[in-house]
Amino acid sequence: MGREQPTVLLQPNGLELHPREGESILDSALRAGVNLPHSCKSGNCGSCIARLIEGEVSYPFGPPMGLNEEDRRNRSVLLCKAQAVGNVVVEAQVISRAGQAQVKRLPCRVQEMTVLCHDVMRLVLRLPAVEPLEFLPGQYVDLMLSEGRRRSFSIASSPSQPTLLELHVRRVPEGEFTGQVFEQITSGAVLRLQGPLGNFTLQDSTRPWLMVAGGTGLAPIKSMLDWALEQAEQRPIRLYWGVRRPEDLYAVDTLERYVSEFNDFAWTPVLSEAGAESDWRGETGLVHQAAINGLKDLWSYDIYVAGPPGLVNAAREEMPEAGANPASIFFDSFDYAPDSLRAIAASD
Ligand SMILES: Cc1cc2nc3c(=O)[nH]c(=O)nc-3n(C[C@H](O)[C@H](O)[C@H](O)COP(=O)(O)OP(=O)(O)OC[C@H]3O[C@@H](n4cnc5c(N)ncnc54)[C@H](O)[C@@H]3O)c2cc1C
Ligand code: FES
Repeated sequence: MGREQPTVLLQPNGLELHPREGESILDSALRAGVNLPHSCKSGNCGSCIARLIEGEVSYPFGPPMGLNEEDRRNRSVLLCKAQAVGNVVVEAQVISRAGQAQVKRLPCRVQEMTVLCHDVMRLVLRLPAVEPLEFLPGQYVDLMLSEGRRRSFSIASSPSQPTLLELHVRRVPEGEFTGQVFEQITSGAVLRLQGPLGNFTLQDSTRPWLMVAGGTGLAPIKSMLDWALEQAEQRPIRLYWGVRRPEDLYAVDTLERYVSEFNDFAWTPVLSEAGAESDWRGETGLVHQAAINGLKDLWSYDIYVAGPPGLVNAAREEMPEAGANPASIFFDSFDYAPDSLRAIAASD
C-alpha cells in the first residue's frame, strides 16, 4: 500500500499543503505558489523557522545546523528541511505582499554570456515573451539540474525587465554547475528555472540604506539599486563590497555610474586578501567590519547583507553589537545546494 499523503495546515491563515514523498514543507508550499519566509534552503540561516503546533516532522538528512537546543525545546522547526510525518499543523507567516508573484517553472534561453572577471560570468537569460517573471528586486531563481537538484542564483537586473534576467555566476572550485557555465554552456543553451524565490527584498521604510555585499552578493543588491534608480530614489545609500583581491572587483563601472546617477550614493571596496606586496591603499579586512568602522550611526540604517554564509552570520551577530537595529538587518545567505552540502558532510 502506498504512503498516505500528509496534510500540512498553516496557521493562522488556514492554508493546506500536500507535500509529496521526500518533499520539505517549504518546497511543497513554493510548489503550491504559497510564499513562506526562506533564504538558504539548506537548514543553516534560520529564515524559515516556524512553530510546530501539532504532529511530528522528520529531518531525513540529519538535524539542521540552524536549530539550537532551545529552538527544539520550543518545537521550532525549519521548514526548508522538515518533512511532515503524518498530518501536521504549523504556525508560519505566509508572505502576501503587494507585487509578490507566483512561483513558476519556466524554460529560458541563455542570450548573452560575458566574463566579468576571472571567476564571474554574467548570464542573461531570456524568458518566453508570453511568460515574463514578475519578481521583487533582491529575489533569486533556482536553475534546475538533473534528478530534481537545483542551484540558486540571485537576479541582478531590475524587475522592469521581466523577460531578461541577468545573473552573476561565480565559479566554485570543483563546482558542477558553475564549472559547466565556464566550460560547456554556450549562448543559445536552454535551461529551466524556478522562481521568483526568497524574501530578500526592499523594505517599506524611509530609512537610509546600508548594503553589504560579499563577492557575487552584489547581484541581488544590483537588482535593488537598478530598480531604485528607475524610481529616482533620493535617500542616502552606502554600499560596502568585499572581495578577496583587486582583480575580483568585477562591477566597478556600474558602481561608479551609481555614484553619478543617484542623489547620494557612495561605495567602498574592501579587500580581504590585499597582500603585503600589494599597492592597494583602500580598505582591507572583513567587509561588515569595514561598514561598522566606517559608519557612526548604524542604528539609523536598513541594512541589506548578501553573500557567503560566513559573512551573513558574522554581520547578523556583530552589527547589532555595534549599534545596528537587529530588526532592520535583512540578509541573503549564499549557501551551497542541499545535495552538495550533504555530499560535503558525507565526505568529511
Ligand atoms: C539564495 C541564494 C542565492 C545565490 N545567489 C548567487 C549568485 O547570485 N551568484 C553566485 O555566484 N552564487 C550564488 N549563490 C551560490 C550558488 O548557488 C552556489 O555557488 C552554486 O549552487 C554552486 O553550484 P555548483 O554546482 O557549481 O557547485 P556544487 O557542485 O554544488 O559544489 C559546491 C561545493 O561543494 C563541493 N562538493 C560537491 N560535491 C562534493 C563531494 N561529493 N565531496 C566533497 N565536496 C563536494 C564542491 O567541491 C564545491 O566546493 C546563491 C545561493 C543561494 C542559496
Ligand atoms: S534555514 Fe531554511 S531557508 Fe535557511
